[in-house]
Amino acid sequence: MTDSTPPTSAGTDPASDPGPGGSTDTRNDVTLLDPRGADHARILSVGSYRPERVVTNEEICQFIDSSDQWIRERSGIVSRRFAAVDETVTDMAQRASEVALQRAGMTGADVDAVIVATVTHPYQTPSAATLLTHRLGATPAVAFDVSAACAGFCHGVGLANDMVRGGSATNVLVVGVEKLTDFTDPTDRGSAFIFGDGAGAVVIGPSDVPAIGPTLWGSDGGMWDTITQKHPWTDLRNGITSDWPDLVMAGQSVFRWAVWQMAPVARKTIEAAGIEPEDLAAFIPHQANVRIIDAMVKQLRLPGHVPVSRDIETSGNTSAASIPLAMDRMLEEGAAPSGGLALLIGFGAGLSYAAQVVRLP
Ligand SMILES: CC(C)(COP(=O)(O)OP(=O)(O)OC[C@H]1O[C@@H](n2cnc3c(N)ncnc32)[C@H](O)[C@@H]1OP(=O)(O)O)[C@@H](O)C(=O)NCCC(=O)NCCS
Repeated sequence: MTDSTPPTSAGTDPASDPGPGGSTDTRNDVTLLDPRGADHARILSVGSYRPERVVTNEEICQFIDSSDQWIRERSGIVSRRFAAVDETVTDMAQRASEVALQRAGMTGADVDAVIVATVTHPYQTPSAATLLTHRLGATPAVAFDVSAACAGFCHGVGLANDMVRGGSATNVLVVGVEKLTDFTDPTDRGSAFIFGDGAGAVVIGPSDVPAIGPTLWGSDGGMWDTITQKHPWTDLRNGITSDWPDLVMAGQSVFRWAVWQMAPVARKTIEAAGIEPEDLAAFIPHQANVRIIDAMVKQLRLPGHVPVSRDIETSGNTSAASIPLAMDRMLEEGAAPSGGLALLIGFGAGLSYAAQVVRLP
């Protein structure tokens, strides 16, 4: 006698599988617990670190055919800070994080997630975040780096907001840090005068009221080669080049993209937060070029009473570090009020961007 039952069920229907022990312990009707987080999140504190050495335009012009006047007029930069040769990305991140933690009334042990936004940590792996976590005494906090260049800090803020509200972390340290001097050719006329070094950090934790608006973010990989490491590390190893893979930039293309594509993103970010431009107490865009900042202010039709960060004048473009550095300076100098609403927007290599409205710590 043959069995006419199709040979399907044994081992494939979880409801009828007796399992190795003979019990029916895998059921479709078991409900998983969802993670549950805080209703809202906010930036609790900010801290920053600027390396000691101030580098003037005159010093930059020792290596490129340029002038202090040209650099000021075309970029707005008067000076920038350079890290010491033996000062690392992690060292700078630690300095900024210690200030932010102390201002939040916390120690590393209170943090359960550490996100480091950077593109200049010189190890392919492991991340800067795990070492920073260890140094801060925050182990075993979850720790990872974000590679989104000048947009990285706002990516971190968006992620931290979702993590706190989603229940995967309670207090998140978000750091933007760069040692761009390690990846800048001092003889490249197109980029040598732009970049600087530094670090900024915020602690993001639970809040009773909404204090971080929706993050608008995205990318355009079609413009991948407009700001890029000159060649991959493998070219160096394979002898295809002996050149250190510094960053190179198609300045004008990036400039046009930033001015024309980013102002609409900034406008939509304000709308998504349910506020009007006049409700802002500060505009803190990525410090790429003062002319980009001015063009965005114009296109956004920001009311004159909204203070705009121009930290680039004395910091240069510090990529992922630029927004938290600028935020800390505005608060320290009283240019923006604690508790006020600030529009943040980061944009750069990828190309990638991210923006949100936040309540200042
Ligand atoms: C880099 C940047 C400041 C250059 O300014 P620009 O006005 O676009 O300059 P251009 O490249 O059009 O060059 C204009 C002229 O200045 C000259 N020039 C370029 N670099 C120069 C320098 N360092 N010093 C003096 N002259 C320079 C060019 O040769 C050109 O001369 P020409 O008109 O005789 O041909 C600008 O493109 C920029 O800021 N781009 C965005 C960069 C950025 O934000 N990158 C980070 C990622 S967000």
